Amino acid sequence: MPASASAATTAGNAVRWPRLDSIAYGGDYTPEQWPEEIWAEDVRLMREAGVNLVTVGVFSWALLEPSEGTFDFGWLDRVIGLLHDGGIQVDLATPTAAPPAWFLRAYPQARPVTAEGHVLGGASRQSYCPSSPAYARASARIAEQLATRYGQHPALTLWHVHNEYGCHVPACYCDQSARAFRDWLRERYGSLGDLNAAWGTAFWGQRYGTWDEIDVPRRAPTTVNPALRLDFMRFSSDAFLDCFTRERDILHRLSSGIPVTTNFMASSCKNIDYWRWAREVDVVSNDHYLVAEQAANHIDLAMAADLTRSLAAGAPWLLMEHSTGAVNWQRRNIAKRPGEMRRNSLAHLARGADGILFYQWRASRSGAEKFHSAMLPHGGTASRIWREVVQLGRDLSALGELRASWVAAGAALVWDWESYWAVELEGHPAEFSYKERISAFYRQLWRGGVTCDFVHPEGDLSGYRVVLVPSLYLTTPRAAANLGEYVASGGTLVVSYFSGIVDASDTVHPGSYPGPLGSLLGVTVEEFLPLRAGEQVRLRSAGVVGPGLADASADASADASADNWADAWAEMVHLAGAETILSYADGPAAGAPAVTRHSFGSGQAWYISTRLAEDLLGRVLSAACADAGLAVRADGGVEVVLRRGDDHTFITVINHQDRTAELPVTGVDLLTGTRYGTRLEVPAGEVRVLRQDSGS
Ligand code: GAL
Repeated sequence: MPASASAATTAGNAVRWPRLDSIAYGGDYTPEQWPEEIWAEDVRLMREAGVNLVTVGVFSWALLEPSEGTFDFGWLDRVIGLLHDGGIQVDLATPTAAPPAWFLRAYPQARPVTAEGHVLGGASRQSYCPSSPAYARASARIAEQLATRYGQHPALTLWHVHNEYGCHVPACYCDQSARAFRDWLRERYGSLGDLNAAWGTAFWGQRYGTWDEIDVPRRAPTTVNPALRLDFMRFSSDAFLDCFTRERDILHRLSSGIPVTTNFMASSCKNIDYWRWAREVDVVSNDHYLVAEQAANHIDLAMAADLTRSLAAGAPWLLMEHSTGAVNWQRRNIAKRPGEMRRNSLAHLARGADGILFYQWRASRSGAEKFHSAMLPHGGTASRIWREVVQLGRDLSALGELRASWVAAGAALVWDWESYWAVELEGHPAEFSYKERISAFYRQLWRGGVTCDFVHPEGDLSGYRVVLVPSLYLTTPRAAANLGEYVASGGTLVVSYFSGIVDASDTVHPGSYPGPLGSLLGVTVEEFLPLRAGEQVRLRSAGVVGPGLADASADASADASADNWADAWAEMVHLAGAETILSYADGPAAGAPAVTRHSFGSGQAWYISTRLAEDLLGRVLSAACADAGLAVRADGGVEVVLRRGDDHTFITVINHQDRTAELPVTGVDLLTGTRYGTRLEVPAGEVRVLRQDSGS
């Protein structure tokens, strides 16, 4: 059984799914922006669209508590009552992502401060310092009020704490944060001696003689100690997490049995370590927005969904927000084309979401997001978007059988926020984008039709045929041992360059690179040889692996169709047990191995020392998958994902191409009832969801 199917537990409790008898469908509902006469129409239209869950109250702190300690719940009582009468469940938010103007005025020291020392203002949102005692008191008080009043309300099915922790303000650099950071460091290191050693403070004479000398990493004349910066990122993620758990514990205490979530931004938020957070929520939920102008942005969507499912340890999760059409915050806000929102929604569903929600129900007329799309556009129901929303509601209600089935993944990609933070710090051989590397590997898996989970480097790898490790710069000894055990017991591992370099304190591992991964990979790296902008090096096959690689030639005329080149980075690699698969034909590492493979125990460990051209990376990964007996199909632009239930397997096929696709897939179409006996035809841009008996 793949690791993704293991039962998720959070904070020691079994996952508690919101009380819903079908796939959740709905969005953020902001009745406070509308006159009450509209609310009844909202509920009527929600029913027409098949909406069964709405998120209420996200930014309404100033309305619920108009002045400190004075509360007005009348309007919320009426809204929740109306929703309940209409059979619509409520995901009730604590409004703590938008402290009211009175709060910022009364507690100016609770405003967030940037690394440059700028105090951020209000009239916006997310304006608070996560380490502020005043914010802690005020947010706990409003959460307690809401939990007391609505904790047993029959419409309440889920608590939504805050909104996108860490959004807009990734960290606060005020004096209160500095104090809290010092407390956090005392807890982590125990003694100043250990801290000085971990941070390497002998360098540039940065030694600390008392705890009070330690500051947050404010803007300084030049590079700030990287180990301090790394710890400050850990601290900041934890400071927000403390804000979440404070409210969660209040909700658990006063509203027992109702699950608590907070919406993640799994693949787009660098500054929150969601592996740590996922353990603390009852239900994992995620927000995902396409980068509208990016080509093939549906692959990025699939990656976000796979990462979210992995955070949920394979359990069902909620897509808390996405958009019906354009957003308003990109440089050019390209509208979704007809059918695109449906493909997006069903792709999330295929990858494990048991709920599809949008930002937002009704388009706002005022404020910063008035040009953001909604389920109900400014123009109302006489619109394509509304028709698509109603259609999606029907589709989701016909797909209820998929609930609680689990996604089958044969491969895993290692993703680690700590290494992400560390690899992007300054002072490295070249600037680095962690997400660019992860995405490059993910794209090749997606194109090869390989569904993957994401795993923490110290997580359970035993269920996967292939594990990919793009640039794990920060590699703990435990992670290295974990990867080694995986390969020794028969796994196939692919590690790429600039991995195994530093420990958890950003200190270079002793000895040659790649430190604790050297014996596993069977190579040493003598020198990093980053390439000039635009420079390419050619690669040549050693002829031991085929097809696709055995014929890789550095001579473009020998095989004009193949992109046998790499760019950005090279390394002087020496074999220490591994065999060469590809070598550098030219460039600063000419003649040295570029891609290697090492037999280790019963498995194989591949090493890629450069940034391979996309096509060549695809061929290397296919060869590694072939080693592991994992089937890879040619890129057809057709997404096929399996969810397995107790009795059935559900196959979602999404045709992203502009021509009809034909596949040897059989089963019953859950949306039309059509039975496909031998082949399935999927018109351009269409989606099919088939049910097969498990085992067929
Ligand atoms: C999300 C946020 C929503 C809304 C949305 C717009 O990040 O949670 O409140 O701002 O973006 O796309």
